[in-house]
Amino acid sequence: MLQMDLNTLFSLQGKVALVTGGSRGIGKMITQGLLQAGAKVYITARKKAVCEEVAKELSVFGPCIAIASDIGTPEGRAELLQALGQKEDKLHILINNAGTNWGGEFDKYPDEAFEKVLHLNVSAIFSMTRDFIHLLERAASSEDPARVINIGSMDGLHIPTVAHTGTFAYTSSKAAVHHLTRNLAVTLAPRHITVNAIAPGFFPSKMTEFVFDKHLADIEENSL
Ligand SMILES: NC(=O)c1ccc[n+]([C@@H]2O[C@H](COP(=O)([O-])OP(=O)(O)OC[C@H]3O[C@@H](n4cnc5c(N)ncnc54)[C@H](OP(=O)(O)O)[C@@H]3O)[C@@H](O)[C@H]2O)c1
Repeated sequence: MLQMDLNTLFSLQGKVALVTGGSRGIGKMITQGLLQAGAKVYITARKKAVCEEVAKELSVFGPCIAIASDIGTPEGRAELLQALGQKEDKLHILINNAGTNWGGEFDKYPDEAFEKVLHLNVSAIFSMTRDFIHLLERAASSEDPARVINIGSMDGLHIPTVAHTGTFAYTSSKAAVHHLTRNLAVTLAPRHITVNAIAPGFFPSKMTEFVFDKHLADIEENSL
């Protein structure tokens, strides 16, 4: 009979993870959780000094290494892949967390909002997964698949509960993340890589500072 050991059931000992946008907000929280479960975690974000400072801070929980990069560009992803590839020959967990937002009035909402938000929130998730596929495959087996986890949002499942913030590009991008996740899951399952999305509600972070400042009543009313 299979014996379950509660102390090791959720252990990530021996696993290598990469968290995009791991320098603050939800990515930082995820990084801490992975470290506490025993993984070695690489974090990436554009601001090198912040990234390195946070990796140092989180190292009390386990091995946390910063590699600064802009994952929205092919050059940035190539540098990240090369730097990670010099240290690791496999990647067990890829958390596609880095994201951005743009709020504005409908009548004045700029085209570049859609370009910027969809590029990072959707295209970069696809590109990161494609570019890191060989490292993921090396960690993957039928008994213990590699994992890709995309950070979607409740706002990709329904019209935002916080009205009037004009996050047209963001909500569309998060719905696209959920659908892209299904598509990638089917594509990569035969290669022993699972692809899942999570859809967080509101968390205090730089991205949501203005919502907590200006629309707290809305959040409280709608989360009952
Ligand atoms: N906070 C919420 O309530 C909430 C709810 C649902 C879903 N989410 C999702 O959760 C994820 C994290 O959100 P958050 O609230 O924690 O956001 P945040 O505080 O703004 O953090 C974003 C992170 O992404 C990094 N980043 C941004 N552009 C990047 C790029 N081109 N290349 C590499 N890194 C980049 C940022 O660092 P640099 O600026 O240094 O690059 C930062 O580390 C996002 O996908 C967001 O949509 C958040």
